[in-house]
Amino acid sequence: MFSRAKNGNGFGDVILHPSLNKRIAQLASATANTKEHQAPFRNMLFYGPPGTGKTMVARELAHKSGLDYALMTGGDVAPLGSQAVTKIHQLFDWAKKSNRGLLLFIDEADAFLCERNKTYMSEAQRSALNALLFRTGDQSKDIVLALATNRPGDLDSAVADRIDEVLEFPLPGEEERFKLLKLYLDKYIAQAGSRKSGFSLFKANPQKIEIKGVTDDIIKEAAAKTDGFSGREIAKLMASVQAAVYGSDNCVLDASLFREVVDYKVAEHQQRIKLAASDKPS
Ligand SMILES: Nc1ncnc2c1ncn2[C@@H]1O[C@H](COP(=O)(O)OP(=O)(O)O)[C@@H](O)[C@H]1O
Ligand SMILES: [Mg+2]
Repeated sequence: MFSRAKNGNGFGDVILHPSLNKRIAQLASATANTKEHQAPFRNMLFYGPPGTGKTMVARELAHKSGLDYALMTGGDVAPLGSQAVTKIHQLFDWAKKSNRGLLLFIDEADAFLCERNKTYMSEAQRSALNALLFRTGDQSKDIVLALATNRPGDLDSAVADRIDEVLEFPLPGEEERFKLLKLYLDKYIAQAGSRKSGFSLFKANPQKIEIKGVTDDIIKEAAAKTDGFSGREIAKLMASVQAAVYGSDNCVLDASLFREVVDYKVAEHQQRIKLAASDKPS
């Protein structure tokens, strides 16, 4: 349960390329020590395809930074209407009072911080963006911004100017896919049915699954086949494996059932890519 505590810089269950992992660990400790060194915070941007761990990392970074933090999603801003500006000022007023400093994480930042001239924006949204820019100007000593987006090119240029550290979250390579497969095999299959979920009247505890012959070599084979999968897709693949096991009558996962599910998930992935490509205007 508390495996993430075993090493101060470990980012729990997030699996990333070692070089990215290292940079994140460095940024995390730099952020945690910023106040002490009386240095300005470094604002950061995480970008990359969907499902690659940006939200996971930003949340952990927020927890670990030792700062007060606020998490928001870009898409939450528009529905707030004219309330948005007020909320933003409130947030920054609160941050000013904090003597630890504030980490403000804006997930799906492009929905809120998109280029002002290029996209249609309501008056309220525009004022919210201006308020944010105003309050994060001149090397703020109280606030570190962390933004995550799949579309870094859509960010307003004034926002982009505020960014000091840009981290790319690429799709996982073969080695990372192997580790992701192992992680989710453990989570969804090996640990299935072992959790004490307390007394439940209507839901039976999930049955324990027996794993037979799903060796590292079999998993390596799956890692090679899942080229182009995101971390999220690998997690979902393993959820499908779990469903297939529960759908079988003996609750056993063997190499051939595992392969079968991997193969159809790979086919499904390729089909989806084809469909997406044919959607695009040529
Ligand atoms: N690098 C990763 N390591 C472990 N799990 C991952 C990773 N990337 C994605 N996942 C899985 O996919 C889900 C979505 O990841 P998320 O961080 O929300 O992606 P993003 O914000 O980049 O779109 C996570 O909850 C996790 O189950
Ligand atoms: Mg996300």
